[in-house]
Amino acid sequence: MSGLTKQRYLVTAALPYANGPLHVGHLAGAYLPADVYVRYQRLMRREVVFVCGSDEHGAAITMRAHKEGVSPREIVDKYHVLIRDTFQKIGIAFDIYHRTSEPLHHQTSQEIFRKLLENGHFEERETEQYYDESAKQFLADRYIQGTCPICGNPDAYGDQCEKCGTSLSPDQLLHPRSALSGNPPVKRPTTHWYFKLNEHEAWLREWINTGRIDGKQVHDPTTWKAHVIGQCNAWLDQGLQPRAMTRDLDWGVDVPPDIPNAQGKKLYVWLDAPIGYISATKQWAADNRDNWERFWKSEDTALIHFIGKDNIVFHCLIFPAILRAHGEFILPVNVPANQFLNLEGAKFSTSRNWAVWVHEYLQELPGREDDLRYNLIKNMPEQRDSEFTWKGLQETTNTELVGNLGGFIQRVFVLVHKNYGGVVPRSVPDQTFRSGWNAETITTTDQELYQLAKKLEEMGAHIEHFQFRDALRVLMEISSAGNALLQFNEPWKVAQEHPEQVKAVLFTALQYVVALSVAMRPFLPFSAERLRAQLNLSPFADDGELVAILNDLLEGNAILWPDHRIKPPEHLFSRLPDEVIERQIQKLHASTPREAAKPLNDSRPPLKDTVPFEIFAQLDLRTATIIAAEKIEKADKLLRLTVDLGFETRTIVAGIAQHYSPEEIIGRQVLVVANLAPRKMRGIESQGMVLMAEDAQGRLCFVRPDENWPNGFAVR
Ligand code: 2FM
Ligand code: ZN
Repeated sequence: MSGLTKQRYLVTAALPYANGPLHVGHLAGAYLPADVYVRYQRLMRREVVFVCGSDEHGAAITMRAHKEGVSPREIVDKYHVLIRDTFQKIGIAFDIYHRTSEPLHHQTSQEIFRKLLENGHFEERETEQYYDESAKQFLADRYIQGTCPICGNPDAYGDQCEKCGTSLSPDQLLHPRSALSGNPPVKRPTTHWYFKLNEHEAWLREWINTGRIDGKQVHDPTTWKAHVIGQCNAWLDQGLQPRAMTRDLDWGVDVPPDIPNAQGKKLYVWLDAPIGYISATKQWAADNRDNWERFWKSEDTALIHFIGKDNIVFHCLIFPAILRAHGEFILPVNVPANQFLNLEGAKFSTSRNWAVWVHEYLQELPGREDDLRYNLIKNMPEQRDSEFTWKGLQETTNTELVGNLGGFIQRVFVLVHKNYGGVVPRSVPDQTFRSGWNAETITTTDQELYQLAKKLEEMGAHIEHFQFRDALRVLMEISSAGNALLQFNEPWKVAQEHPEQVKAVLFTALQYVVALSVAMRPFLPFSAERLRAQLNLSPFADDGELVAILNDLLEGNAILWPDHRIKPPEHLFSRLPDEVIERQIQKLHASTPREAAKPLNDSRPPLKDTVPFEIFAQLDLRTATIIAAEKIEKADKLLRLTVDLGFETRTIVAGIAQHYSPEEIIGRQVLVVANLAPRKMRGIESQGMVLMAEDAQGRLCFVRPDENWPNGFAVR
């Protein structure tokens, strides 16, 4: 928080849509980092409330209901319970898991809408929107499908093309059709309330980039992730526009009915969902006889939103603008968004069932919650996209949990039982031995305790800076140092000759084990609790245990005292056998259509031999536009293209007929190899080549300038 000391924390994790189960990508994206952060703050005895809940409105829900032929209510009831229970079983320790379908949430959202309206933050605008005449309803963006103008995907949605990832508006789709009836929709006028986001651009830019509002420092931008600030600035640089905050729908929060023209209008899901954080806090406060306003209306609270990168603009620009327009709420001090996790070389895909579902993992690999948590934290996509693989899970479990961490703890337990019958030995204070941090250093228990405290502080600093991978690395460094302490001093060999030294080494090793039991808690809560029981210490209250041992260690005090009796050794972790991993890999591929199952990484073509620059420079690449396209008889892979090079038109034969229809590519800008020797194909002379990119599945897409560019100019 550097310099901005706060008295309490309100931590939110993105409300998942209650329209399907959770997969491990969700966990790594928002929930595990939030959970580690919150558990750590509790161990530091800081006041923290951790809220989440189901996002139960919007097209994500109604589309699922439409697909399954049931009501939206049935969908949200089913998935709310499944998701809530899954979070609980994988150890995400929310203080409350609320729902946006609760009356309290509807009421809270309506109050905020009304206040914004009264304060003049909306303008009513009439626009033409797509309407399905047979289904007799306006179509949410997601309900309009058509051809993506960028990549030609025929099944792009009105808000986004899932093939090329471009954000779209329904008007950009070619050949639009209704997802309800399949018919082409018509345009009809409708009126909505638009939030004047444009009026907030200046202060948002200043707030994001400097952390200041009206000259007052309210957050420290050096603690924000560069990709978060970068994405915000990219939006700000395009200029913020007023955004519709209502929709013509029959599922969602009603626009307050006494407002004129409210009939049939609901709040936009991205208005009500983040308000869900406020209603969840209100419910938590009501349940705990507390005051929710302490958390939302006091500058002493640090509000932190954990989200995935697809939610950045909503949490860093739109929701803060709404909070400030309302006038009474604080803004987040950080939004540590993660990037995406991929699975075995491909993107997670719910529709293709290319996923590891958390509730299935819990059933099929019982007792291995921490194995998964460890692997996902180690590979967390903090700065860039990362990847989950089953072999990777096996490796982290067997090498790091069983080998390093479990191995150290087990050895200490065995040695303490063997040498002292399970009772913590009393050692001479200035007895020397070799340090676990460096074989050359001769140390004492006091010095090792201090070193331990410094490592715990280092771990904590990483967590406070949202560097969870680094924090986990430091945890494991403590365990490695513990192993080295045993290795360098060989207490199993010298027990007879140097009993005092062995006592000091094992006494110190036990301090390491206790420190680890506490430090593990944020990452590996289940194993930490088991270790606590084995150490014969009271169960976690999650209330200051880390700060307590830190204070002791810094003062040179032990954290496990002589004469304390520990329980017999028991393995904390167990190896993940090959057959379990193989079964999961087979399951993943068996349940997935072939195209998604082919890992991208294995299919990238090998690099060709290096060529000197002079050879590359001989190619003449030019910008061009396709002005005509037609099929070629008896050649089902080829299209005959006419391209405009600015200074002339050319005929080019391209092998793209199985990827694009002629109609959808007319008008598209492309790059052409303009000095390729002409070749005859099917009797037609092809006067150049259109550049395409190919992926692992053999799909093609055009390579083109990223903005409209005059034709005939060279590519360098
Ligand atoms: O992207 C999503 O899954 C949204 N349901 C996240 C909402 S976060 C917050 F605004 F509630
Ligand atoms: Zn596309």
